[in-house]
Amino acid sequence: SRGERVDLLLTDIGRLVTPPPGGNPRYGTEMSAVHEIEHAAIAIREGIIVLFGPESEVRQQLNGEGVEIAESVSAEGRLVVPGFVDPHTHLVHGGSREHELSLKRSGVPYLDILAQGGGILSTVRATRAASEQELLAKARKSLDIMLLNGVTTVEAKSGYGLSLEYELKQLRVAKQLDAEHPVDLVTTFMGAHAVPPEYKGRTDEYVELIVSSMLPEVSRQGLAECCDVFCEEGVFSVPQSRRILQEAARYGLRAKIHADEIVPLGGAELAGEIGAISAEHLLAASDQGLCSLAASGVIPVLLPGTSFNLGLKQHARAREMIDIHQLPVALSTDYNPGSCPTESLQLIMMLASLNLRMTPEEILTACTINAAAAIGRADAIGSIEARKRADVTILDAPNLAYLPYHFGINHTFGVIKSGSIVVW
Ligand code: NIG
Ligand code: FE
Repeated sequence: SRGERVDLLLTDIGRLVTPPPGGNPRYGTEMSAVHEIEHAAIAIREGIIVLFGPESEVRQQLNGEGVEIAESVSAEGRLVVPGFVDPHTHLVHGGSREHELSLKRSGVPYLDILAQGGGILSTVRATRAASEQELLAKARKSLDIMLLNGVTTVEAKSGYGLSLEYELKQLRVAKQLDAEHPVDLVTTFMGAHAVPPEYKGRTDEYVELIVSSMLPEVSRQGLAECCDVFCEEGVFSVPQSRRILQEAARYGLRAKIHADEIVPLGGAELAGEIGAISAEHLLAASDQGLCSLAASGVIPVLLPGTSFNLGLKQHARAREMIDIHQLPVALSTDYNPGSCPTESLQLIMMLASLNLRMTPEEILTACTINAAAAIGRADAIGSIEARKRADVTILDAPNLAYLPYHFGINHTFGVIKSGSIVVW
């Protein structure tokens, strides 16, 4: 309307590629149907996209309505996509685990290292010992890297505290970062990431501790939106996972499950049964498990960096998930100090192309709208469209296929987060 103003006009976009408008994930074969506009522009007001399309049309409309343009910035012909969303990370933790690299490379299995008190438990010791300031500084550094790589929203799990006090500490750090950093965070309580040493051999008692003391307090302090469980042989069984996630639902926490990563335990079936928002990993998921996900609209969050880094031959069956089960596949780094120490979602895109045989269009959808849906944000982010948050990534690449093709580098040229230029 006449007299209104636009805070920022992003002009001279060589090619704008986005999932089509909508606040829902894109299912199966629909994932390849992305919208492409050449010579495009995006108009932003108060952090929100108000108009986008071919630049000539955008300008005509703004002129016609007498809209004042406060600031204009040129993408100089580059590729522009929605800000990437990383829906599964273990962002906040102490220390690192390069001392386990030679064990890993000599073939000692991931779960054996954990059973020997290393792995996740090694990071638990480091996380408990670290001050809140140390955890904050380390996680901030990782978040900076993610932003420089074009990521504008990140999910962050707890799960290296494994006691009320230390789980709260991890979640507070994530909340603090959400408040101070341009990247938005969505927090997940994952007290059931491993059984702490104090409860060794008494998993059921630890589950009761989670249910009776951790969940109520996490919820009371409003520190998490989701609850996740490592449902795996020797970690948490299907009945234990079900108990935790059903209790979590009573507090309004949405269920996520590290499901069928190593053993086909029935985590995918459970995800479907309880209507989880997402199921993660799924390398070993059964056909029945995939059918269960499809029947309940659970989003499979695939983490090809993890199988790559653990040297596994097996990969999640992304092609079947997309082509046969019509599932809304999402991708994520799983950034963590053990199974996947990388912040690079662009490396994950390359691995999704190489090992999951996903197309560049499917990969974009999986890293934007479907990733947003996996953390309950598809109504606000994940596509470039009017009324969504102005989270925009500008890439030094001629087209989408160039991202998984030219690998191992960061293609990000600029990032606009909630309407502000934060990387350029
Ligand atoms: O998603 N699988 C369990 N949790 C993480 C790894 C955590 C760690 O090794 O520190 C994962 O792979
Ligand atoms: Fe994980």
